[in-house]
Amino acid sequence: MNNILRRGRLGSKQDPDVLNYLSSMDADRMIFDADLLVDMAHVVMLSEVGIITRDECVLILRALDTIKQEGFEKLDMSYEDIHISIEARLINLVGEDTGGRMHSARSRNDEVATCIRFGLRDELLTLMHELITLRKTMLEIAREHTKTLMPGFTHLQHAQPTTFAHHLLAHHDALSRDTQRLLGAYMRTNLSPLGAAAFASTGFEINRERTRELLGFDEIVENSMDAVSTRDFVLESISVFSNIMTNLSRIAEEIISWSCEEFGFVELDDQYASTSSIMPQKKNPDSAELLRGKTGAVYGCLMSVLTITKALSMSYNRDLQEVTPHMWRAAGNTISSVTIMAGMLSTMKINTEKMESAAGTGFSTATELADTIVRTTEIPFRTAHQIVGTLSKSDVRTLEEVDRIALEITGRKLSDEGLSQEMFDGALDVMENVKRRNVVGGPSPVEVSRMIEERNYQLSLDIDTLVKKANFVQDAMKKLDNIKDSFIERGNA
Ligand code: ARG
Repeated sequence: MNNILRRGRLGSKQDPDVLNYLSSMDADRMIFDADLLVDMAHVVMLSEVGIITRDECVLILRALDTIKQEGFEKLDMSYEDIHISIEARLINLVGEDTGGRMHSARSRNDEVATCIRFGLRDELLTLMHELITLRKTMLEIAREHTKTLMPGFTHLQHAQPTTFAHHLLAHHDALSRDTQRLLGAYMRTNLSPLGAAAFASTGFEINRERTRELLGFDEIVENSMDAVSTRDFVLESISVFSNIMTNLSRIAEEIISWSCEEFGFVELDDQYASTSSIMPQKKNPDSAELLRGKTGAVYGCLMSVLTITKALSMSYNRDLQEVTPHMWRAAGNTISSVTIMAGMLSTMKINTEKMESAAGTGFSTATELADTIVRTTEIPFRTAHQIVGTLSKSDVRTLEEVDRIALEITGRKLSDEGLSQEMFDGALDVMENVKRRNVVGGPSPVEVSRMIEERNYQLSLDIDTLVKKANFVQDAMKKLDNIKDSFIERGNA
C-alpha cells in the first residue's frame, strides 16, 4: 500500500464504498486553486524562518506549479481529500525527502479552514459586485419612473397610490442593507487560521503573520482552537445569503403576479421566459419562479449548516466536512440569482399605462379625502374616516354625496364648513395624492428624486469599499506570485 497517509497507523485496505463515504474529493474541486496557493505561502514562510531550506522550497514551489498546470483531474482520487492528494502528487514529483517536508508545522485542519475562507472571500466579493450592479440597475429604472403612478398595496388590496420609483426604492434599500451585511460577513471571513495546525498550534517557530499577509487575509484567527473549529463565518454568510434571497424572492413574486393578464404591469424579456409544450400562446415568467424556488434551496443550506455545527465539541470534528458543500451551493445560488434579477429588471417592459390606470382604482384616494376633510373642516380624523368609509360603499363619489353622509353622521354639511369642490377634486386626484406625500421617505416625485441621488452617492461609496477590498486581495496574490517566481528563478541560477 503506498497511500502516504494510511501506511502507518492504519494498515487495512479501504473498501471503495467506505472511501467514497469519507471522501471530500469531489467538493474539494472548489478549493484546488486555493489549496495550492495556501501550500505556496506556507512553504515560502517555512523557508524564510528556516524550517525548510531554500532549495527544498524551490523544488516544492516548482512542483506545485506543475500540479496546478496538470489540473485537478490529474490528482489521485483514491485519497480522502485534496490536501493529502496534492501532497502525494508532490512527493511523487520531487521525492519524499523534499516533498515530505511541506506539511511541517501544519495540519489539514488549519489548511482546510484557510482554503474555505479563501474561497468564500472570492464568492463574497463577487456577490457584492453583482449586488451593486443590481442596485445600480434599480436606481436607473427608478430615475425614469418618479412620476409613474401605480397602486400601492397592503394585504394585496389597493391601499394608496404611489409611484413605480418609490416602490423600486423600497426593494433597493433592503438590498443596500444586504450589501452592508455582506461587508460585515466579509470582515469576519477574511481571517487566516493558518498556523493553528491540528488545534494546538505548533512547536516550530512559524510566522503566522507572514502567511496571513501572503494570502491576502486582513487578520489572523488568533486562538488556534477557535481557528480550526469555528464555521461561524459560514453560518453568517449563508444567513446573509438567505436574507438576500428573501428580498429577491419578494421582487420575483411581484414580477410573477405583475406579469399575469389581470395586472399586466410588466412583461419579461423573452430570454427570461419559457413557454408551454402544449399551450402555444403561453409566456411564463420561469426565471422569477426559479429564483423563488432557489430561495428555498438556500434556506435549506442554512438549516443544514446550523444543524451540522450545533453540538460539535472542541475542536476539529470531521462533521465539518459536511458544511462546505452547502456553503458553495448557497453562495452559487445567491450570486446567480442576483445576476438574473438584474437582467430581468433591466430588460423587462414596464407597462406604465396599465400601472397608471390601476393607480386610482379601489378608491385608493380615500385616505387623502379623509385627510383633506380634517385639514379643511373642524372634523376629527376618526369621524372623517367614518364619512369616507361610508362613501366608499356608495357608487356616487361627489361632494353632494359626502355632504349627505356627513349630515347623517354629524348633522353638518362639509361644504358649509370649508370643503370646496376644488379641494374635493384635489383629494381625488391620484397624482395630487402622491405629490402631497412629501415628508421624508414619502412617494412625492421631489422626495423620491432626492432619495435616488442619496442612494447613488451611497452606491459610489460601496463601490470604493469593494474596489479597495478586491485590490488588497489582488495585490497579495500578485506579491505571492512574484515571490514564488523569484524563488524559482534564483533556484535556476
Ligand atoms: N476534508 C476535510 C474537511 O473538509 C479536511 C480536513 C481533514 N482533517 C482531518 N483531521 N481528517 O474538513
